[in-house]
Amino acid sequence: MKIFIDTGKIEEIRQAYSSGIVDGVTTNPSLIKKAIEGSKGVSLREYIIEILKIAKGTPVSLEVIGTSYEEMVEEAKKIYEVFNPVAGNVYVKIPVNPVMQEDDGNIFDGIKAIKTLSGEGIPINCTLVFTPEQALLAAKAGASFVSPFAGRIDDLIRQKNNKEFEKTDYFPAWGLEDEYSEDDNGIVSGIDLVSQCVEIFNIYDLQAEVLASSVRNARQAREAALAGSDIATLPFVVIKELLNHPKTAEGMRDFTADIVKEYSDILKK
Ligand code: E4P
Repeated sequence: MKIFIDTGKIEEIRQAYSSGIVDGVTTNPSLIKKAIEGSKGVSLREYIIEILKIAKGTPVSLEVIGTSYEEMVEEAKKIYEVFNPVAGNVYVKIPVNPVMQEDDGNIFDGIKAIKTLSGEGIPINCTLVFTPEQALLAAKAGASFVSPFAGRIDDLIRQKNNKEFEKTDYFPAWGLEDEYSEDDNGIVSGIDLVSQCVEIFNIYDLQAEVLASSVRNARQAREAALAGSDIATLPFVVIKELLNHPKTAEGMRDFTADIVKEYSDILKK
């Protein structure tokens, strides 16, 4: 499974890339807002250019802000024209459907924009996917990446079941065993959503890659890998969490305490 870093913060991107195991970057307007708030004095354009350079050779997703077909297509072209020449690694994030209230008329605009832009060779990451059927349509429209939001589905199920939780709390991939929500839409967890997207893409041999998003902890990242997700995008803290184990730290303390001088002398030479 490829691992992307889900952040707009340059320092996090730099550190994560220095590990050599990061395969891409995803941003969204909220992540860009957080990042730029902490980086006084730098223009956003220069800031994004720096991200693209650090991630050279791997995809960086930048999201449109428009909510109609015309706006999204125009913005996507602008994003691609301005930023892709920097390192040739821009993917444009388009919402599967930009409607903010149920069916206000432009329900097809996201899919139409994906179709137009991918047809013109602009690689698309389709975002805000919450059902396998949305994922199917995004893949049919030509998206390169399709991003099911695992953590936010878990949030929704917990909210419906009046469960209190912290954003990073683990939620079981198999759902709430004793008290399923009456309205879980046949998806028992965020990982179940990822898994159903993977299954459909495999059945129909679709080219799009599943990009598990909104992943909040290491166990969920592992379950995305077990579900066969092509990619998971992870916040920096979760990437670090992948490496953490108290027994690893304990083992390091023990082994370090037991080093004999003769052994360290050999290694110094
Ligand atoms: C990624 O592309 C998404 O924007 C992101 O993973 C959302 O994560 P969140 O639900 O933790 O905000």
